[in-house]
Amino acid sequence: MPTTYTAATAPGALPLLGHAVAFARRPLEFFAALPAHGDLVRIRLGPRDAHVVCHPDLVHQVLTQDRVFDKGGPFFDKLREVIGDGLASCPAHEHRRQRRMLQPAFHRDRLPGYAALMAEEIAAATADWRPAAEVDVPATMYRITTAATLRCLFSAHDQAGSLAVHESMELITKGVATRVLLPVPGLDRLPTPGNLRFRRAQQDLRRMTQRVITDYRARAGDRDDLFSMLLAARDEDGRGLTDDEIHDQAVTFLLGGMETTAALLAWAWYLIATHPAVRAELHAELDRVLGGRPAAYADLPELPVTGRIVDETLRLYPPGWMFTRSTTAATELGGHRLPAGAIVVYSPLVLHRDAGLFPRPLEFDPGRWTAKDRRGNDTSFIPFAAGARRCIGDGFAVTEATLVLASVAARWQLDPLPGQRIRPALNASLTPRAYTARLSRRVPSDQSSTITAPNR
Ligand code: HEM
Repeated sequence: MPTTYTAATAPGALPLLGHAVAFARRPLEFFAALPAHGDLVRIRLGPRDAHVVCHPDLVHQVLTQDRVFDKGGPFFDKLREVIGDGLASCPAHEHRRQRRMLQPAFHRDRLPGYAALMAEEIAAATADWRPAAEVDVPATMYRITTAATLRCLFSAHDQAGSLAVHESMELITKGVATRVLLPVPGLDRLPTPGNLRFRRAQQDLRRMTQRVITDYRARAGDRDDLFSMLLAARDEDGRGLTDDEIHDQAVTFLLGGMETTAALLAWAWYLIATHPAVRAELHAELDRVLGGRPAAYADLPELPVTGRIVDETLRLYPPGWMFTRSTTAATELGGHRLPAGAIVVYSPLVLHRDAGLFPRPLEFDPGRWTAKDRRGNDTSFIPFAAGARRCIGDGFAVTEATLVLASVAARWQLDPLPGQRIRPALNASLTPRAYTARLSRRVPSDQSSTITAPNR
């Protein structure tokens, strides 16, 4: 481990715009190229300098010293306008209390219950699939993760309410992405049709959560869902969350969980389809363990190949690919002084695509996760971050993604139509642009003689 870390300024800054054009044009390539310049690389986005942390030791320091490297900077300043000071965006001094209150909702013991609801939603979403039909993969995955997250959040809520949340969240997710990535201040306040739609979606969502809060408070009792846990949460002084706080936390979970998990799945289907050897290994595992039935929580330990595909997709295309922090005081990072208020950027993508950390980094190779030393406390693999602000929904997301991949691939094959360029979209999450796949029905290899009906 080096004791001194190199600092540099990224080349190619333009007058006034800095690196904003290079960043906006090819954000992934721009970020992935930064470690070649140094461990701490200064970039300029318009008028502001930002320090991109490119060495795992320094990323670890940023993530573990969360009181000095606090939530702030362009990403979270914009996000706060939507989710207030919910768990993901609140400052460190408020965070411990919130995390203690919310952690029980994501305890391991809760996962089997959530998994059962997820399984029902996966079955419902794929019930009308037919061989040779074409599906827009990212949109379909978004529909599945929305339905599953909503079910786990408000298990007792009606279909119409869920649809309304889905529609509002779609507008809000897109609006957040534009707001976070737009360098021009004030643009999001103009009365443009897009901004008006965004504001209306926010109001609709607030009204809907308020209705659910009133309904849940009137019918006390644990419904075994996230919302009941939010209502029951108490801090050390016995205080619960206010209605506004519950709204912010619920929207935080929706925003944090829906698009990210959908992006992970949409990349996974593309990677599986383009790597026949991986697909064959996956099918062999699913045929042996599931024999054509959908996966349940109890199956997960028996599905290591599926798990490695999830991990490797998270490495190559981490949905949460870039986050900002702001220093609360003058500090030192890798031997370099940073003033108070400095913007620090970390990107799981930068570490995950560094050839020094992951040999052949652009190759999709789930087999790399069979090596024991790649697991456990690997500070280079951070799809869910690390330290106090590590994703609270990591187990939830991995459970959901593994269930979807296993249950769908047990019965269906998704083949992207030829001639499509599958490229990342510039969203808050790293997600592929729309692409279409043709469905074909799979027959488990050891049951081929017993299955006759092609559509069932
Ligand atoms: C593949 C799916 C997911 C990925 C890749 C992901 C990634 C992340 C990352 C990288 C962070 C840290 C952000 C930072 O450092 O500023 C984070 C935080 C968070 N995530 Fe996730 N997430 C996923 C799914 C979920 C789900 C399903 C939920 C909830 C249902 C969720 C809720 C949150 C919350 C509340 C935080 C803030 C935690 C805190 O500050 O204490 N995420 N996530």
